[in-house]
Amino acid sequence: MKTEILETDENSLKKAAEIIRQGGLVAFKTETVYGLGADAFNQTAVRSIFEVKGRPADNPLIVHLSDPSEIKTVADNIPNSAKKLIDRFMPGALTLIFDRASRVPKIVSAGLDTVAIRIPSENSAREFIKVCKTPIAAPSANTSTRPSPTSAKYVFDDLNGKIPLILDGGECAIGLESTVLDIRNGNPVILRQGGISQDEIENVLGQKVKNNFSSDRPIAPGMKYRHYAPNAIMYYVSYGNEEKIKQLYNSIEAKTKVILATDESLMHYKGMNISSLGKDGSEAAHNLFRLLRELEKDYEVIIAEGCKEQGLGRSVNSRLIKAAGENILV
Ligand code: TXA
Ligand code: MG
Repeated sequence: MKTEILETDENSLKKAAEIIRQGGLVAFKTETVYGLGADAFNQTAVRSIFEVKGRPADNPLIVHLSDPSEIKTVADNIPNSAKKLIDRFMPGALTLIFDRASRVPKIVSAGLDTVAIRIPSENSAREFIKVCKTPIAAPSANTSTRPSPTSAKYVFDDLNGKIPLILDGGECAIGLESTVLDIRNGNPVILRQGGISQDEIENVLGQKVKNNFSSDRPIAPGMKYRHYAPNAIMYYVSYGNEEKIKQLYNSIEAKTKVILATDESLMHYKGMNISSLGKDGSEAAHNLFRLLRELEKDYEVIIAEGCKEQGLGRSVNSRLIKAAGENILV
């Protein structure tokens, strides 16, 4: 199959809608990362998402909508407490878990009775969903385990020959996936940290939220797999452990190695290969997946120093930890 990359405009959107209508897949830009979309009501199309990505069958997909008024068409029993979050973050980088309406095929949610809902704030994404006239089931548009794609060329690197169309909209503004929040029984639990910070959610709800992303048995099934992994050996060291990082760097015998950290930390690593995540958590979120995909070309070993545990820094750290697999020093 030839994979076309087209700028997102009226013509390419029409073409995309036709592909979706016929049960095909289209990659599209959102403000978080690029998604790989199919008609959420077409089981065969949804199955092909799993095949194309090499995604484990027990990892559910997010259903993307263009407007909050559509939520009730795919979800049941929407609790009152969700209203504030819907008003504030839909559109936005928040995914909410509700009871799955029976018309949404089970395969979308990997057999679960729940459904994940998101409304992207990226205009071109909502345009795409609108012209398709159907909810769009979409995971991130990378091969399973690879870093999520933050530009069309990274989608192409992973999926060339496997999908007919990538709608190019340039670089993603946030660069990190949405925050996944289960709000079903008035007891909000973060299942995946992401583009909306825990503080922002707590401010809107006026209550503390729990998080479940670090437990051994995560409720967001996707979080149990090694993820976001570059083709390099990766280490994670938590923020502020400069001495540990220097020791680790000097003890590693690889020919090519690099330290990835936020700007304020980098001055500690004079004479070593360094790469900047940016000045803070938000910049790090924007740069992270691109850097992992670029650094793997030049380095055998990447030593990442985490961000400060605040704002989007926590979301970045959760990705770095996943990418490092077993190689974690705290
Ligand atoms: O920003 C994003 O969320 C991007 C863009 C394309 O919207 N999408 C994305 O999808 O990151 P994906 O499939 O790569 O990650 C979805 C996450 C997984 O960790 C999955 O397990 C969780 O959401 N999830 C989906 N449905 C769920 C459900 N019903 N219950 C619990 N977790 C769910
Ligand atoms: Mg993903």
